[in-house]
Amino acid sequence: MHVLVIGSGGREHALCWGVARSPLATRLSCAPGNGGIARLAECVPIGVDDFDGIVAYCRDQAVDFVVVGPEVPLVDGLVDRLEREDILAFGPSARAAILEGSKVFTKELCRRHNIPTAAYERFTDIEAARDYIQDRGAPIVVKADGLAAGKGAIVCETTEQALAAAEDVLGGQFGDAGNEIVVEQFMVGEEASFFALCDGRNALPLATAQDHKAVFDGDKGPNTGGMGAYSPAPVMTDEMCQKTMERIILPTMRAMEQDGRPFKGVLYAGLMITERGPQLIEYNVRFGDPECQVLLARWQSDPLAALIAAAKGQLAGYEVTWSEQAAITVVMAANGYPGDYAKGTGIKGVDAAEAVAGVSVLHAGTILAEDGRLLANGGRVLGVTAQGSNIREARARAYQGVDAIDWPDGFCRRDIGWRAVEREEAEE
Ligand code: AMP
Ligand code: GLY
Repeated sequence: MHVLVIGSGGREHALCWGVARSPLATRLSCAPGNGGIARLAECVPIGVDDFDGIVAYCRDQAVDFVVVGPEVPLVDGLVDRLEREDILAFGPSARAAILEGSKVFTKELCRRHNIPTAAYERFTDIEAARDYIQDRGAPIVVKADGLAAGKGAIVCETTEQALAAAEDVLGGQFGDAGNEIVVEQFMVGEEASFFALCDGRNALPLATAQDHKAVFDGDKGPNTGGMGAYSPAPVMTDEMCQKTMERIILPTMRAMEQDGRPFKGVLYAGLMITERGPQLIEYNVRFGDPECQVLLARWQSDPLAALIAAAKGQLAGYEVTWSEQAAITVVMAANGYPGDYAKGTGIKGVDAAEAVAGVSVLHAGTILAEDGRLLANGGRVLGVTAQGSNIREARARAYQGVDAIDWPDGFCRRDIGWRAVEREEAEE
């Protein structure tokens, strides 16, 4: 079958990597793709928001299955459009993608169905928000209702900061995404990412993973899309996974089905593991980036077959098998990220990195120049991904790969996986 992957990040390179190893895939395309994806798929210059262009390509090139990577086209209804054209697609409808598209929707759903999450109120009016913030005090979290490219959640250590954040967001900092805000209690615990493959009715938990959002070592500095990830995440014990399914994922699936919004695709719960068990921080309606890279590294059965089963509503009794090995991804980003950074700088040594045992380099913001040189073309640029018998071994290999890459204009964190490594060392 001809498979089309939509997107251009490290997540989409990982998805292409997974699809390409399936015997079901006889042809693989990616719109628009990147410099690394170009080595295993036909990259077509169609933007993720160009629904007409995507449909036309599917028709002309007899695409059988579309896998949508990023959230924006999902929230904007790409899967609905493809289904109307009778093209099978992986991902939620717009009505279901509202779980990521509106934090107010998700918090209200949690309240109605007793799904554990931080206590909150919603506001469109700054005076009412002010009273609530002053009454509750800090630390407290202010969130824009809509999509804000991962920047819409502001963790505030003081009341003054929270008041300023509420004013900025309601005042238009994120445009219409901030017409309404959620103000919620600050939760204490360890974060984890939990992924379930969903077919509208059934939900199948995938392997566990954890990412590192802060830009600098020691989880310091501003938040980014993710500077690295590892799988499995030791904090997600079997008991914690079971509680997450019973208390969070399955009630959400039932609520969405009852509401006429059956959820198909991958449901990604950002969790805080607290003394009282898992609490929902937020939902995403897609794979995480870079969590997808470590999941695809460990995914042993056919990933494409599983995505098709989810899209067709055939997950009852379905099983996915995982490698016993651990996986880690270290993101290399352009100097200055997540602030301003330069594009077009030259990268060398990717082949040398991939010569390290267990290492694959998954590209995010890269392009191949006409003369064959690899150039940086974004903030997060490469994801050096490695497997090993445990996180410590995988991490040593990943950094060996990183050290083989010659890119003076980039940087990475040197401590990806530190919590898991500390746990492994304590267990010895
Ligand atoms: P979100 O965009 O909702 O995932 O939030 C981004 C990040 O802000 C999360 O990964 C957490 O690190 C932090 N965060 C969000 N909400 C809370 C909360 N209620 N308590 C503590 N930290 C939070
Ligand atoms: N790694 C976090 C995200 O994909 O949203």
